[in-house]
Amino acid sequence: MLNKILVINGPNLEILGKREINIYGNSTLVEINSNLKFISDKENADIVFYQSNIEGELINIINSKAKNFDALIINPAAYTHTSLALYDSLNNLSILKIEVHISNIYKREEFRHKSLISDIATGGIFGLGGNGYILAIISMQNILKK
Ligand code: DQA
Repeated sequence: MLNKILVINGPNLEILGKREINIYGNSTLVEINSNLKFISDKENADIVFYQSNIEGELINIINSKAKNFDALIINPAAYTHTSLALYDSLNNLSILKIEVHISNIYKREEFRHKSLISDIATGGIFGLGGNGYILAIISMQNILKK
């Protein structure tokens, strides 16, 4: 069976590789996504990528498209800590949901310690850089196989 995975990245993640390299590393989002495409081809999954800096656009995609996928990998970036609207939208989505953060949000400023979406996600990965997305795909495939 070909699993369908949607990867959503939130604000400022399109400038990875140029943004706070000491925290987020050198990899660009294009490089991260091409690694994910490689892994998902090997894992026999179909993968679609989406990034926006706009909260409402992320919600529009979740509400209109995400239900057509088996699983969602989402890094909502700063909206993780602020967006009740994103929480409501994700709460209404019944597919597998994995929250990814490149940095360890619990080692950083206190305002990053609270994720509004962790308790409605299937699981989460933080602090492992771009590899977190790869681990999310592998875990997801294992869960979907069961
Ligand atoms: C982030 C962590 C957030 O606190 C931050 O606002 C981001 C990226 C991460 O991937 O580590 O933009 O989600």
